[in-house]
Amino acid sequence: MTPEHIELVKSTVPVLRENGVALTSYFYKRMLNNSPELKNVFNLDSQNSGRQPRALAAAVLAYAENIENPSVLAKAIEHITTKHVSLDIQPDQYAIVGDNLLHSISEVLNVPFESELIAAWKAAYLQLADILIGVEKQKYNNLSEQTGGWAGWRPFKITQIEASESGKIFTVEASDAQAILSAAPNQFISVKVKVPNQELEQPQQFVLSAASDKQYQFEVKAVENRTEYSVANILLENYHVGDQVQLTAPQAK
Ligand code: HEM
Repeated sequence: MTPEHIELVKSTVPVLRENGVALTSYFYKRMLNNSPELKNVFNLDSQNSGRQPRALAAAVLAYAENIENPSVLAKAIEHITTKHVSLDIQPDQYAIVGDNLLHSISEVLNVPFESELIAAWKAAYLQLADILIGVEKQKYNNLSEQTGGWAGWRPFKITQIEASESGKIFTVEASDAQAILSAAPNQFISVKVKVPNQELEQPQQFVLSAASDKQYQFEVKAVENRTEYSVANILLENYHVGDQVQLTAPQAK
């Protein structure tokens, strides 16, 4: 980025932050309209939607503010990339998010898309995206190089469902019957289910309650104010022993 780019970006962060809600709601709607396949990636549960794009846009603004000193954001980058890897986020998706975010910034700031200001924001976004993509690549490699490890989604079969105090404990084994990455309780996985009666999948994270080299266990608790996209309720109501779900590899929080 040129010094002029950096100045342009930093001078518009406060305005964007003040209009944070407009920025994120416009961004999220625009993105899911233009790229409906991402409805399988973002959790559409109304209790979550809004929170996620807000966090995403806030992280881009925080990065832009600290653009001369990205090490300030090292902790945030670790957190974001762990989350992204648990959802199998891929490099090509960064272009889609970036395009929608830049259009939303241009809308909120009321400046033409083909302007020096948006070019500056593009440079900032690409710089951050490059960092995230690089760290995520390392994490995917690291997970797939370990014994029983894998990157992305892997089919698992539900082998047991038992009642627990406040929900049900699901036990799952890899459908390919091959080794699975050893994990410690309190590590988390993402579980992806099919939304009943829709051509749609939805992911959600669960904490492991037990793990061996053959199976993982996690507790599922029904959520109140559920929607048709509430993964926990879908698991509790529609999934049975013998059914298949998709899992990403366990990671530490
Ligand atoms: C520079 C670009 C990006 C930044 C700064 C960013 C930042 C973030 C942040 C801060 C969170 C919230 C983490 C948490 O507290 O749980 C998040 C979550 C998420 N991001 Fe990104 N992200 C970027 C790109 C992407 C891309 C390209 C995708 C794929 C389409 C994506 C998909 C998601 C999803 C699905 C979540 C939800 C996690 C959850 O279940 O809460 N992000 N991102």
